[in-house]
Amino acid sequence: MYNVSDCKIVDLSQVHNDAGNITVLENNKNIPFNIKRIYYLYDVPMGTDRGGHGHYELQQYIVAASGSFTFVLDDGVSRKKIFLNDPSKALHIQPGIWREIKDFSSGSICLVLASHEYSESDYIRDYEEYLKYRNDTSII
Ligand code: TYD
Repeated sequence: MYNVSDCKIVDLSQVHNDAGNITVLENNKNIPFNIKRIYYLYDVPMGTDRGGHGHYELQQYIVAASGSFTFVLDDGVSRKKIFLNDPSKALHIQPGIWREIKDFSSGSICLVLASHEYSESDYIRDYEEYLKYRNDTSII
């Protein structure tokens, strides 16, 4: 069972020159899982929060492809706030972590690289249920 302290900011490779930058992600090279799905959040209205769920199995790399936003991670005991605004860095969210996303800047793009295809049964959308899952799992 992972905790928020296991969710780290990772430096991604960067090809840098005067004409701009390229950042590359390759399965099992600089991302520690096989990417099964890519999606991105955009046109998020100012002041709107997203997330508000945990996942049993899914792990993700989160990249601020444009603009900025804040992830609040929660493992049922500790909470950690992470501000993302650098496309050359990713936040690695381990399985079993509750997350909320807020403070999207205008025009921001939140790019998500995910270890599994979409499955609603992998979500825990109720916080009380999430806490129960964490408590029950930590006893095992
Ligand atoms: P959700 O993951 O709850 O969004 P967020 O965490 O960004 O607030 O997904 C919102 C809706 O989009 C939900 O009805 C499920 C749907 N959805 C898909 O159909 N496929 C996907 O890959 C994702 C991420 C969401």
